[in-house]
Amino acid sequence: MRCKKRVVILTGASQGIGRATAYALARAGCRLVLAARGAIRLQQLAMELNAQGYTAIAIPTDMGDTTQAAALAHKTVAIFGTIDVIINNAGIGVYQAVAELDETAARQVMEVNYFGPVALIQAALPTLMANPDGGLIINISSIIGRRAMPHMAAYCATKAALERMAESLRLEVKTANVRVSTVYPGVTATEFVHNSLGDIARLRPNRRAGVPAEWVAQAILQTIRYERRDVFITLFDRAFVTFSMIFPYLADQILFYYTRIRN
Ligand SMILES: NC(=O)c1ccc[n+]([C@@H]2O[C@H](COP(=O)([O-])OP(=O)(O)OC[C@H]3O[C@@H](n4cnc5c(N)ncnc54)[C@H](OP(=O)(O)O)[C@@H]3O)[C@@H](O)[C@H]2O)c1
Repeated sequence: MRCKKRVVILTGASQGIGRATAYALARAGCRLVLAARGAIRLQQLAMELNAQGYTAIAIPTDMGDTTQAAALAHKTVAIFGTIDVIINNAGIGVYQAVAELDETAARQVMEVNYFGPVALIQAALPTLMANPDGGLIINISSIIGRRAMPHMAAYCATKAALERMAESLRLEVKTANVRVSTVYPGVTATEFVHNSLGDIARLRPNRRAGVPAEWVAQAILQTIRYERRDVFITLFDRAFVTFSMIFPYLADQILFYYTRIRN
């Protein structure tokens, strides 16, 4: 769809991939509803964008609370009268082996990465379905939602849940002209690990630097324009997922040795 004047809800907008995406979409002419928990950083971003002549409002929202996630859709309709695109980008990681997994942390991550997006989608669907141009839902998953890594089971499970939900939803809303895309970033240079739960000190020193957040932002912008079903950021990410699907046993071996060296 064309971007100009589209009303876009962007969660996790205050930093990292979300912040870079806010700038990319604002420049493309979207009207933005920015959501995250931290109100100050979020409002600062909205002010910066508005000062440059773009349209952005900040709605502080905890996506781990389904009532707040649903309210985000209702507030958007109250302000702009419609919703064109939802980008479920807010997410947190948790780094723990399954044997040590803290249930509270695992549930918290599932609330933010899965149940919050579902609640936002449910609340927005009547508006998206009534939209004459239809609507677009973009979920930000991860390449490790498609092929899990050791010590990241709980996080990978949330992303796999988001992906399977999207596959089901896509067919359920097809006749209502609502489209569903999934973006799969690989390692991206943000504060994601620092913001994760669990044993992050173990992961941080040896993590690859990752691609700039702006690369993911551009891929999200192109996802709005071309509405592709599955979007990868780099050739390596696509190759990693394809290889893991075709040769799962070999992928096990490679990841076993890679993560043993890394850890
Ligand atoms: N960085 C990577 O390597 C990577 C790789 C693959 C996929 N991803 C995915 O990409 C997305 C963005 O990640 P990122 O790297 O940009 O992470 P980030 O730098 O840690 O940013 C996360 C954003 O989500 C918001 N957020 C966190 N918890 C929230 C909650 N409960 N409610 C609402 N907003 C919340 C944060 O703001 P507040 O703290 O103010 O709420 C922040 O704006 C995530 O879904 C992540 O899983 C990242």
